[in-house]
Amino acid sequence: MDQEKMSLLPSLDPKRSDTVAFNSSGSVATNLEAEDQRRLLFQRRKRIIGHIFVICALLGLLFYKFMKSPRHFEFGHKPGKHQHRFHPHDAHLRWSDEDPLWVGRHTIAELPFPSEMADYQCAEWPKVERNSPARSSTVQTVEHTFELPLTSEVLFLLAQGPFMNGNVNITQSDEDRDSVVISVDTSYDDAEFLQSIQLCKVAGREGENGVGIFSSRRRPHPPRHDLHVYFDIRVEFPKGSEKSRLLVSDFKTDMRGAFGYQVANLSNTIFNSVSLSGASKPIQVELLQAQSIQVKAANSPIDGNFTVDKSLRLSTANAHINVAATLLNDKADKSMTEIILNTVNSPIEASLSLFSFDSGEAATSDGAFCVRAHNAHSPIKLTFPTAPINSTVHVNAKTAMAPVDVQMHSTFEGAFTAQNSPFDKKVINAEEGSDPEGRDRKRNLIFDEMHGGTAKGHVYWGSGESGKDRSSVRLNTVAGQISLQF
Ligand SMILES: *[C@@H]1O[C@H](CO)[C@@H](O)[C@H](O)[C@H]1NC(C)=O
Ligand SMILES: *[C@@H]1O[C@H](CO)[C@@H](O)[C@H](O)[C@H]1NC(C)=O
Ligand SMILES: *[C@@H]1O[C@H](CO)[C@@H](O)[C@H](O)[C@H]1NC(C)=O
Ligand SMILES: *[C@@H]1O[C@H](CO)[C@@H](O)[C@H](O)[C@H]1NC(C)=O
Repeated sequence: MDQEKMSLLPSLDPKRSDTVAFNSSGSVATNLEAEDQRRLLFQRRKRIIGHIFVICALLGLLFYKFMKSPRHFEFGHKPGKHQHRFHPHDAHLRWSDEDPLWVGRHTIAELPFPSEMADYQCAEWPKVERNSPARSSTVQTVEHTFELPLTSEVLFLLAQGPFMNGNVNITQSDEDRDSVVISVDTSYDDAEFLQSIQLCKVAGREGENGVGIFSSRRRPHPPRHDLHVYFDIRVEFPKGSEKSRLLVSDFKTDMRGAFGYQVANLSNTIFNSVSLSGASKPIQVELLQAQSIQVKAANSPIDGNFTVDKSLRLSTANAHINVAATLLNDKADKSMTEIILNTVNSPIEASLSLFSFDSGEAATSDGAFCVRAHNAHSPIKLTFPTAPINSTVHVNAKTAMAPVDVQMHSTFEGAFTAQNSPFDKKVINAEEGSDPEGRDRKRNLIFDEMHGGTAKGHVYWGSGESGKDRSSVRLNTVAGQISLQF
């Protein structure tokens, strides 16, 4: 016991010290003077209060941790004798009283969006009756509808966790609304298993609004392979017209699991950006228009029509990409409009129409475009039905063990490089055609270099002063034929 420290304690309040009740008879305390004893009692009381405080803090921490753990994710199949009753009208929403930092077993920081969660509201599933079989012999379907404000900075759709399976169908309605309607049909055959999944409307702090489906990472015990929940998701944008297009900010999806996408002809909607991610079933887009579009899939084909101002990036693997894209370039904006296509083991086929616009929104000459296609063990085929006069177009296509076939537009002027193995065939030629500027110029195809597997040259109209080096085409394969037409 440190006497010096004790003497530094403030003197005791006599009114309080004379009612000290606890029994303190340590060997140190018995040898002390009355004043010291009172000080010692005070010290002990302080320590006990300190201990109580620490215990309370620990209990509080434990309680907090318990609250944060995903309590709603319990598996277990309780067989019983009664028929499972289904409540089709039980599909209303309730405000979740869960700690908002957790969604399923993710903290919100681990989810791709929103940046920071402000609120969420989860669907209530049909109740599981006590002592009744949760598993029913037929598939049940329950529907939930969510409305998200059209003015959202980001509209999103998320699916995270195992056992996820479904489809996303994106359409435009004939109704004039100021919200996007997302309806989810959930089909299941095990009501108890369904309780391990949450379907929520999620709001972020920065104008992000979306719908998320979250399933527990915990596996049922004993393991089950017959668990199926299927989500049929319909995203319906309100009406727009050719005269007054619907403008939408950013639309993002990240559907982990086995989801596919269908996008209708959204010709009356213009998005700032669209990002469709995580599909492992086919993606079919009748028409999507945005400043930037990104589609990321795994093992699933991408088919569709796209119009972009800035960027179109499509990537998958072991599945084809077959698209028609319209690339618009704003002349005032000095940046290039780009398209990037990536897959392996399956063909890439793209038809690219290039247009340039001036400030008056009229189609014009010039413009800058960048086209990249990468593949392996499968062919690449690119065609350019149209491109502006004097446009700058950089094309880079690369594969291996497969052919590359590129048909450039008649306005193309620039350099080319075609590289494959010395034994592989190269077919490079230019059509005579008529001068796109109507000046009766002749088209020239000049080979500058031809050795090993490499062919280099230039293509231009007339004498080619300005056009000879404006654009470029670089084609590359190994053990595959190259066909390049101008
Ligand atoms: C997508 O929705 C549209 C409109 O409701 C419908 O016609 C179409 O059949 C749906 N497609 C799929 C694959 O569900
Ligand atoms: C989409 O609809 C518009 C207007 O109805 C039509 O002009 C256009 O051809 C359609 N595009 C596609 C790809 O279906
Ligand atoms: C793309 O548009 C064409 C019409 O321009 C249409 O025939 C085709 O079905 C569209 N692609 C998809 C995947 O919807
Ligand atoms: C294309 O560029 C050349 C050289 O700069 C110019 O003479 C010609 O007028 C341009 N054509 C168009 C349609 O802008």
